[in-house]
Amino acid sequence: MRALLFALLLLPVTSIVRADPKTDYLLYCRGCHLANGAGVSPVVPTLIDELGKLLQVQGGREYIVRVPGVSQSDMNDRRLAAVMNWIVTEFNSRTAPHDFEPYTAEYIASVRDKVLADPLRHRAELLAKSR
Ligand code: HEC
Repeated sequence: MRALLFALLLLPVTSIVRADPKTDYLLYCRGCHLANGAGVSPVVPTLIDELGKLLQVQGGREYIVRVPGVSQSDMNDRRLAAVMNWIVTEFNSRTAPHDFEPYTAEYIASVRDKVLADPLRHRAELLAKSR
């Protein structure tokens, strides 16, 4: 009986530990970007192919973490890093740089506090500079 009670108490903990990036994406991002990453034009941008292109420009790696939907999500740095790596490889295999270095929790922690007040303007500036 005691063992059973103990096992039941552990259940929620193990489900948190097992959280995988795809599940986290569906929980935290799908509401706006949809399950397939396509977004809802013109309000919510697509995550397909565009992130790979942004990763090719200077400042792009940081930018896609600093958008409010990412930096202010409820996930901790480690889970957020895993979700970012998942969306890059899952939705951007055609465009991501071949030497894409996976995000780490440390990197996420170092940039997520700098939430962008005007992400679309920042994005346009990055792209304009790279031309
Ligand atoms: C409430 C709706 C919403 C949620 C939830 C949301 N986003 Fe977004 N996302 C947006 C909007 C709107 C933009 C456009 C920039 C802005 O206005 O913030 C955006 C921009 C982005 C961008 C930049 C894309 C580009 O091409 O510039 C990325 C990357 C991104 N979101 C990823 C995510 C991830 C990953 C999650 C889940 C952790 C998430 N978003 C959750 C609405 C959302």
